Amino acid sequence: MRTDPGGCWVAEEDGTMVGVVTSLVREGTWILSTYAVRPGHQGRGVGKPLLAAALHHGRGALRGMLSSSADPRAVRVYRQAGLSLHPQMVLRGTLDRTAIPLGTGDKVREGSAGDQDLLDSVDRQARGSAHGADHPLLMTQSRLLLSETSTGSGYAYAYPDGRVALLAATNRRTAGRLLWSALADGPEQTEVAHVTAANEWALDIGLAARLEVWTVGYLALRAMRPPSPYLHHGSLL
Ligand SMILES: CC(C)(COP(=O)(O)OP(=O)(O)OC[C@H]1O[C@@H](n2cnc3c(N)ncnc32)[C@H](O)[C@@H]1OP(=O)(O)O)[C@@H](O)C(=O)NCCC(=O)NCCS
Repeated sequence: MRTDPGGCWVAEEDGTMVGVVTSLVREGTWILSTYAVRPGHQGRGVGKPLLAAALHHGRGALRGMLSSSADPRAVRVYRQAGLSLHPQMVLRGTLDRTAIPLGTGDKVREGSAGDQDLLDSVDRQARGSAHGADHPLLMTQSRLLLSETSTGSGYAYAYPDGRVALLAATNRRTAGRLLWSALADGPEQTEVAHVTAANEWALDIGLAARLEVWTVGYLALRAMRPPSPYLHHGSLL
């Protein structure tokens, strides 16, 4: 609401809020963050006008991204809005620590607010638009890991429970180093979410770590290919 008030709408019935949508625009990419109608009010035409209002906020943006639930109503309206649906995998289970490569954690350091320009540059290369104001927010919610070498740069945000919230890199080697590092620092029961077929480097790490592969929802995109090497954020994409 602070950065994109025009992208945030609610639906009311008899003075009660029954639905909400929040969306944002970052450097020519429209992103849908939150979209929900109260159970009991779903499937009665509340959701569609809400999404239309959010889409209007992104009318000047060529590209679009959102992470869709498996709800058939959501999938229907996203496709009707012209987005392409890319299935998302989630890797979860018990981490096999013996699979963690020797030297994991080397060439990875903690990041801070002073790294914002680098983070934005990596974003532009990996997904075509910088996260900008999202980075200070992400830093309050999660730990920032950074890797910079002569051949590539990248970053990952990891929640206190070890799950990766967002990962972006300029090459797969750097992305893999960051993912192994986040997994190694996290707990035994773990999860790597939002893996698309364009990110088989992450799928292969999950399999090496003996995690199970499941499919959950879609990465829905307009006028762009699934970013790679990239594990998108669920609501800041
Ligand atoms: C997704 C959601 C916000 C849509 O809002 P809604 O008020 O239920 O949607 P609408 O009533 O406007 O209908 C959307 C479309 O789905 C259709 N639909 C309704 N019930 C359906 C069902 N059970 N299965 C498939 N389609 C259905 C509607 O007919 C409409 O399509 P149409 O206009 O072409 O006929 C709402 O269902 C919801 O909150 N779902 C749970 C949370 C969620 O998954 N949110 C998305 C996060 S990415």
